[in-house]
Amino acid sequence: MAMDAVSVIRAKRDGGELSAAQIDWVIDAYTRGEVADYQMAALNMAILLNGMERHEIARWTAAMIASGERMNFSTLSRPTADKHSTGGVGDKITLPLAPLVAACGAAVPQLSGRGLGHTGGTLDKLESIPGWRARLSNEEVLSVLDGVGAVICAAGDGLAPADKKLYALRDVTGTVESIPLIASSIMSKKIAEGTGSLVLDVKVGSGAFMKTVEDARELARTMVGLGTDHGVKTVALLTDMSTPLGLTAGNALEVRESVEVLAGGGPADVVELTLALAREMLDAAGLPDADPAKALADGSAMDVWRRMISAQGGDPDAALPTSREQHVVTAAASGVVARLDAYDIGVAAWRLGAGRARKEDPVQAAAGVELHAKPGDRVEQGQPLLTLHTDTPDRFEYALEALANACDIAAQGAEFNPTPVVLERIA
Ligand code: URA
Repeated sequence: MAMDAVSVIRAKRDGGELSAAQIDWVIDAYTRGEVADYQMAALNMAILLNGMERHEIARWTAAMIASGERMNFSTLSRPTADKHSTGGVGDKITLPLAPLVAACGAAVPQLSGRGLGHTGGTLDKLESIPGWRARLSNEEVLSVLDGVGAVICAAGDGLAPADKKLYALRDVTGTVESIPLIASSIMSKKIAEGTGSLVLDVKVGSGAFMKTVEDARELARTMVGLGTDHGVKTVALLTDMSTPLGLTAGNALEVRESVEVLAGGGPADVVELTLALAREMLDAAGLPDADPAKALADGSAMDVWRRMISAQGGDPDAALPTSREQHVVTAAASGVVARLDAYDIGVAAWRLGAGRARKEDPVQAAAGVELHAKPGDRVEQGQPLLTLHTDTPDRFEYALEALANACDIAAQGAEFNPTPVVLERIA
């Protein structure tokens, strides 16, 4: 049947359902370059505004999987386990988690992405380690997995190529925050990657793409359904993203904090979420008796980290890049930090150079925001609250605009109810 992009766009723009044939055609034609970026951007916006039915999402995901190859880890002696986060601010969890789960006996093929909107990307973070390479051949991925137990790398060009193009396009066209587009993007990669089990970290709150628990639950259920239908044991945790995870948002800053966690220290929320996700992954991989807290404490997770970074050309002992310029934001009043907004901090880090404005832009390794206090902490007026880092100081003013309402400080003695890190589990 003859198809054209304009009819597909108009069908979704007018609130209709796309047929299986329309979906298969548009994904294939976009991957081949026959449908232009501007047409796909219009279709993405129509999907964001009008949504998709479950069967449309399932077909869209299947078409994205079919746009490329599928990997096969069946030759590995260990069970495979993977996790994917829907994206947050300061979400560096993959960095300590992958080596930790490998240290407990699973194989962790962590095919990761770059920053999207105000959220950071695992590959951008790891590229701040001198020498580290994100791009590995399929043979290299298998060999690092076999030898080290964990690999964090870019999905190869052959894996869900439709997602690669869509992901970069959505990042710069305001079309990220859509349940069908996020669910299909994540699950097409994970199913094509061939992991046996998958734990999803679905973020909720201002710094997440899903702002409410209801939306996050819907996204989690959609993804768990897609995974289960494709034979992948899939579990989701809904986790808080109203404030950044840990004390850093920005590439090299987050690598430093992850290494602190692997060394047995690091912020309590990062450690708690790393351990919660590790337990889910080990359980899903059929290793329920492994003890991730012990592997963090006894240095075995750090050992795997060092071997994993070296296997990808990185120097785990090299100094990380530091920013040329810093600007300190101080507390406007004395009291208890009642709110430190994840979205505002994410936007500030992005404006400082940690993220991209156009899909071909480079990121600054050292740019980002360092937090000196978290919700619940007492602060005195004038004490440092945030340090902004960048190599290009003309960015400070724009970043500071994003932070104008980022923090509430409550009077002394005001009641503060901390939000738990893990909010809900969906299986
Ligand atoms: N992570 C992805 O891989 N895709 C999205 O759309 C959002 C987060």
